[in-house]
Amino acid sequence: MAKKTEKRKKQTVLVTGGAGFIGSATTKALIDRGDRVVIIDNFNDYYDPTIKEDRIKVLLKGYKKSAKLPNGYTIYRGDIRDAKLLEKIFKKEKIDKVVHLAAMAGVRNSLRDPGLYVDVNIVATTLLLDMAVKYKIKNFVYASSSSVYGNNTKLPFSESDPVDTPISPYAATKKATELIAHVYSHIYKLPTTGLRFFTVYGPWGRPDMALFLFTRSILSGEPISVFNRGKMSRNFTYVDDIVAGILTTLDANLPYDVVNIGGDREETLLRFIEVIEENLGKKAKRKLMPIQPGDVPSTVADIAKLRKLGWAPTTQIERGIEQFVNWYKMYYQID
Ligand SMILES: NC(=O)c1ccc[n+]([C@@H]2O[C@H](COP(=O)([O-])OP(=O)(O)OC[C@H]3O[C@@H](n4cnc5c(N)ncnc54)[C@H](O)[C@@H]3O)[C@@H](O)[C@H]2O)c1
Repeated sequence: MAKKTEKRKKQTVLVTGGAGFIGSATTKALIDRGDRVVIIDNFNDYYDPTIKEDRIKVLLKGYKKSAKLPNGYTIYRGDIRDAKLLEKIFKKEKIDKVVHLAAMAGVRNSLRDPGLYVDVNIVATTLLLDMAVKYKIKNFVYASSSSVYGNNTKLPFSESDPVDTPISPYAATKKATELIAHVYSHIYKLPTTGLRFFTVYGPWGRPDMALFLFTRSILSGEPISVFNRGKMSRNFTYVDDIVAGILTTLDANLPYDVVNIGGDREETLLRFIEVIEENLGKKAKRKLMPIQPGDVPSTVADIAKLRKLGWAPTTQIERGIEQFVNWYKMYYQID
């Protein structure tokens, strides 16, 4: 007997930062399940924008909205700080829901240009929240970060823990985003959910993050910088698990919430490096370094809250790093 599947109403979702690592994967998943996506991205050069172009050209190949594929994506190459452009998009595209991922990411870079992080991550997020209220958006899901936990020592990190002592401009902007979202949920009854992502990795990942940097250096025989002499631990979270969590909360329409989304196994940095070495068949030259300003030695997530919505992480680093290394070799044409 054919299995009865529940019919979900098609919707139009605005994905900010849709050419980014998490944004492009989210766009693909939304289209695959039948939603229509509108992307806004400014393709900035915080890291080499070639990979952003390629995420669109290769990962989202064939998905561009056309007569044949009405649920594909439409892309706006522009800045979320541009209020006129936002107004045009919301007016024209009949957006139902927003997944707001565009941001200046990167803890260390935020120490170099904190004003830019405030402009993009706080001011532009507020512009988007204004639009969401004006155009009666049904749900606004946005990226926060595990970095809001700063140097908290109580592990695992729980959403109910105090997070009033960020240790980087980036973390402070993410905490500020949660606060401003609360105002909009409270005053205007706009449903908002902030997702505190814990170290995301996977194919099409960010070239400024450890997995990418380590893989590149190991392959070229360069030493890798192992900060805090390797005494770091993380809940590494595979990108498909992150996307599943985004879709779960996008569908849940929670009135206001902030939710951790992380892997369920605490891994040391040294184990992480070992798995990369196993997959590359090559040993790393390790340069042991002190901890960097703004960095947090341990980020471990309490994920009970998101589990209650039916979400669970499924990919451990052994499989996830294998997927990344396969993609990396394919992308850079390495035998
Ligand atoms: N990757 C992680 O481990 C991680 C962890 C915690 C939080 N986050 C958050 O998740 C979100 C997505 O992160 P990511 O890893 O995909 O990063 P990413 O840099 O790959 O994606 C962000 C995208 O936003 C775009 N963007 C930046 N500023 C913009 C602007 N002013 N206007 C329009 N577009 C702009 C960028 O061009 C980029 O394509 C970010 O908000 C980030 O802070 C990521």
